[in-house]
Amino acid sequence: MRLDKFLCEMKIGSRSQVKVYIRQGGVTVNGTVVSNPEAQIRETEDEVCFRGKKLQYCQYVYYMLNKPKGVVSATKDNTAQTVVSLLGNRQREDIFPVGRLDKDTMGLLLLTNDGDLAHRMLTPKKHVEKTYRVTVSHPLTENDRIRLEQGLDIGDEKPTLPAKVELKEENVVLLTIHEGRFHQVKRMMQAVDNQVVELERVAFGGLVLDKGLKPGEYRALTAEEIDSCRGL
Ligand code: URA
Repeated sequence: MRLDKFLCEMKIGSRSQVKVYIRQGGVTVNGTVVSNPEAQIRETEDEVCFRGKKLQYCQYVYYMLNKPKGVVSATKDNTAQTVVSLLGNRQREDIFPVGRLDKDTMGLLLLTNDGDLAHRMLTPKKHVEKTYRVTVSHPLTENDRIRLEQGLDIGDEKPTLPAKVELKEENVVLLTIHEGRFHQVKRMMQAVDNQVVELERVAFGGLVLDKGLKPGEYRALTAEEIDSCRGL
């Protein structure tokens, strides 16, 4: 990896800032000052110090984001703001969202650069649980609840897998599903002649949305949270 990229990933500064720090002689690699920002280093083996302090390389990063409405679950977009841009510009370049929430959906989104973990959380084989707080246009009937819980036809080849429905308020339910089909929650509600007015994901796999995070805010996962995702 290039030295300037490594320093950016270690959040020492922007690409242009770290180039200045390197040229000024503030960076050593295995005890020797390296003033060329393009110098190649072995990030897992070389000892890189910035102003005398050793930088511990961390291969993977994991963030819980409270996705606001109006932001797309993508790394790049020509017109809309992306969830990755909410992390700010001092982040590493290889971070991506684990799965997608619709532009108008809010709530828990995991961002990482760990492709294996993302695959484990998204593979249809694992049936990883996702819980949504769903505000609907009118109250669900008992029959609607039973149909959603049993699994129903939403226009795909197969009906949905059994879900869990917990009534919270007249027009608000917690819906737990084990699949991630396109617009799944909205289509499930349409199948019972209802409509989603607001959608928020509150849990995903072992993760529960941190109530302390306002829409648009994020935090690093704790070691326990990372373990619980890895254990899936
Ligand atoms: N189901 C939907 O319809 N939309 C989402 O964003 C997530 C699940």
